[in-house]
Amino acid sequence: MQDAMTIETPILAGAPSPFCVPKGCYALTVTDVQHYTDTLFRFRVTRPQEFRFRSGEFVMIGLPNSDKPVFRAYSVASPSWDEELEFYSIKVPDGPLTEHLQKIQPGDTVIMRKKATGTLVNDALLPGKRVWMFATGTGLAPFASLVRDPETYDKFQTIVLVHGCRTVAELKYGEDLVAALKDDPLIGEMVDGKLLHYTTVTREDHPRQGRITDLITSGKLFEDLGLQPMGPEEDRAMICGSMAMLRDTKDLCLDHGMSEGANNKPGEFVVERAFVD
Ligand code: A2P
Repeated sequence: MQDAMTIETPILAGAPSPFCVPKGCYALTVTDVQHYTDTLFRFRVTRPQEFRFRSGEFVMIGLPNSDKPVFRAYSVASPSWDEELEFYSIKVPDGPLTEHLQKIQPGDTVIMRKKATGTLVNDALLPGKRVWMFATGTGLAPFASLVRDPETYDKFQTIVLVHGCRTVAELKYGEDLVAALKDDPLIGEMVDGKLLHYTTVTREDHPRQGRITDLITSGKLFEDLGLQPMGPEEDRAMICGSMAMLRDTKDLCLDHGMSEGANNKPGEFVVERAFVD
């Protein structure tokens, strides 16, 4: 891990920049960038040694390209034990941050506010048998962190990662992640048989089609997985996606008799919106 740079530090990596690191921010160096589609990419950055977060939390990310940088909330997609930080991002046409962020290269600098926060954390859920992670689009990011955290496997017998996207290409980040987990020296054995990955697509041909919400309502999701429909005794849920997806999935959790939790009052499900839009 790299030491945190202090405030008012000139940007060192890449081209010289006239801007300084704003107060209360880290300057992080980009180590890796991978583009999946015209609209999706992931990047990894150095992690300051002192920076702590819980798997599933989010931070505020910006670029040192102005004296008043634009910040957006990003879930950390890497687990809390990782020596680097990973983020999974959409590319918004003319988006004030992502139109620039999508062009970053290894060696460039990204800035990050020092505090992580959020409710998609194991602590905000009561103990249970299964945890359902419902994600659409880049809402997968906090779950990319949680499914790589041994704590999740200690807390739950079964982890069901449900990811809905418009197109098959948009599933790739999650598919690569789950495939790599099985060979992971730290967590591979824990994952075996405990992590179920269910993907669905709404605007292209795919073996599983339809919105997550429709698959819950029809019961097809549970039938396909050979599991009982969700209930408050054994099941817990975490939800991350667009505002509409959150609202509709939350309503279904309530219909299934589950109650919403928070950091100060753990419950049967928790919600966080996928931020960058
Ligand atoms: P659809 O193609 O039917 O709109 P988006 O990129 O708009 O956030 O969508 C990502 C995925 O989430 C798409 O498959 C989309 O389906 C789905 N989706 C959009 N709105 C909802 C909703 N209210 N509930 C569940 N899934 C949704």
